[in-house]
Amino acid sequence: MKIILIGYMGSGKSTIGKALGLLVNIPFVDLDSYIEEKEKQTIHDIFKTKGEVYFRKQEHFYLKELLQADGPMVLSLGGGTPCFINNEKLLFNNTSYKTVYLNVSVKELADRLLIGKASRPLISHINSLEEMQEFVGKHLFERTVFYNKSEVVIDANKDQKTILEKLVMMLF
Ligand code: S3P
Repeated sequence: MKIILIGYMGSGKSTIGKALGLLVNIPFVDLDSYIEEKEKQTIHDIFKTKGEVYFRKQEHFYLKELLQADGPMVLSLGGGTPCFINNEKLLFNNTSYKTVYLNVSVKELADRLLIGKASRPLISHINSLEEMQEFVGKHLFERTVFYNKSEVVIDANKDQKTILEKLVMMLF
C-alpha cells in the first residue's frame, strides 16, 4: 500500500510522513526532496532559473515515477501537487493508494510559514503575518477542492503524537 500525504505548505506532510514511515516500517519519500535530488537543484532554484511551468512538468513526471514504483511507500507531496496537470486523476479514486489530507487552519499555517518561507518560492516575498494570512486564506480556498478529494481527512492542527495515533487508527 502507498500512503500519500496531501496538504498545504506547512501542514506537516514531510515531518508526519517521515515519522509515520518509521513507526510502521514503510519507506518514506518526500516528493520535493526527490525532485531536488533528481534535478540536482533546490526547488527554490528550479523556480528561479526555469520557472514554475517547468517545475510542474517535472513534479508530474517524478510523481508518476514514484507511484509506479513497486512496494509500499509513505509519500509526502508538495502543496501544489494535486492541483496541477492531471495529477488528481493519478492520485484519487485509486484503490492502491490511501490519500490523506492534513487539514491545518489558515492561522496556524500562516504562523508556521512566516518562519519557513525562505525555501518556498510562492511565499518568500511575503513579509508580515497579516499578508501571509490573507495569501494563505485565498490560496487554500482554491486548493481545498483538490485536497478534499483525499480518502482520509484529518485535523492536523494537533501535536505530532496525536496526529500519528489518529493516522495509524484510520489507515491500518
Ligand atoms: C508548493 C509547495 C512546496 C513545493 C513548491 C510549490 C506549492 O512544497 O512543492 O514550492 O505549490 O504549494 P511544500 O508543500 O512541501 O512546502
